[in-house]
Amino acid sequence: MEEWLRKFLLPANQGSSFASEVDFKFMSLFWLSVVLFVVVIGPMTYFAWRYRYKAGRVTPHQTHNTTLEVVWTAIPTLICFAIFLWGVNGYMKFAVPPGEALEVQVVGKQWLWTFEYPDGTRSVNELHVPVNKNVRLVMTSEDVLHDFYVPDMRIKRDIIPGRYVQEWFRAAPNSIGVHTSTCAEYCGKGHSDMQAKVFVDTPADYEKWMATGGTEYLDYSPEAWGKIQYERKGCSTCHSIDGSASKGPSWKGIWGKMEKLNNGTTVLVDEAYVRESMMFPQAKIVAGFDPIMPTFQGLLRENEITGLIAFIKSLK
Ligand code: CUA
Repeated sequence: MEEWLRKFLLPANQGSSFASEVDFKFMSLFWLSVVLFVVVIGPMTYFAWRYRYKAGRVTPHQTHNTTLEVVWTAIPTLICFAIFLWGVNGYMKFAVPPGEALEVQVVGKQWLWTFEYPDGTRSVNELHVPVNKNVRLVMTSEDVLHDFYVPDMRIKRDIIPGRYVQEWFRAAPNSIGVHTSTCAEYCGKGHSDMQAKVFVDTPADYEKWMATGGTEYLDYSPEAWGKIQYERKGCSTCHSIDGSASKGPSWKGIWGKMEKLNNGTTVLVDEAYVRESMMFPQAKIVAGFDPIMPTFQGLLRENEITGLIAFIKSLK
C-alpha cells in the first residue's frame, strides 16, 4: 500500500533481508504521526476559531476532567512503549550478526574505503558480496570518525578509530547488481567523495571476481581504465586533473616533467616514479605538499597501475 510514498521517502531498492521490515516500521511510524497530527492539530484549529475573542464574551471557570486526563496520558504511554519494544526487536536483528557469515574487514580512512576478504584479497572502494549469503563487516578507521552506510541495504554504523564495530546484511535475490555506499559521518574535505560501490554478485560471478579481480579492464583502453581507477580508488579526492590546487599535486601536465621535491632535489616524472609514489608515497614528497598519502601496496592490480600511468600520460 502507498508504495509510491515509500519509494519517495526511502531507497526504492530493498536490497537486504531486513530492508522490508525496516521500511514497514518506518512507514507505520510515519502513518501514526499523520494520524496524531490530524487528531491534535485538527481540534486545536477548530477551538482556536470556535472560541476566538469576542467583545463581551467571558470565559467560564475551568477545573479539570480526570477521566479525560488519565486516558490521554495512558494511551500515548502504551503506544510509546509498544513502539520501543518493536524498535528493540528490529535493532537486535541488525546488531547481532548470525554466527555463520562471510567476514570482510573494512577500513575507512580519509577518504577511501579498503576491504579485505578471508583469503587475503583486497580492494579499494569496491565491495563484492555473494547474493543471499550473510556478510559481516568488521570495521575500523585509520584516522577519524567515518560511517559505512549502504542505503539500499538499510545498514549504517559509525566507525571509531582504535575500535572495531560491525554490521551485517544478507543481500536479497532482487539486489544483484551495483549499489552505492557512502560515508555518513563528516570526516573532512573529501567526505562527500568517500563512496564505494557494493556489487551483489551471483555465486559464479563472485567466485570469478575473487579469483581474478574480474575482467572488466579488458573492456577499456588503458587510459580509460586509468580514468575509472582515478575515481574508484579515491585518487580524485586529492589529485586534480585540471591543474587546480588540492591536497596533492595535480596530475595535469606532470608527465615527463622534472618535479621539485621538499628536500631540494628534483625527480623525473616517469613510470618508475609514479609507481613508487603509489606503493611508497612517503619516499619522495613534492615540494609544498604534506606527506599524507596512504600506500596502495597490495591494493592495486597490475592492470590498474598500468591504466593509471596511461591516464596520467594522457593529461597533457
Ligand atoms: Cu569518511 Cu565522511
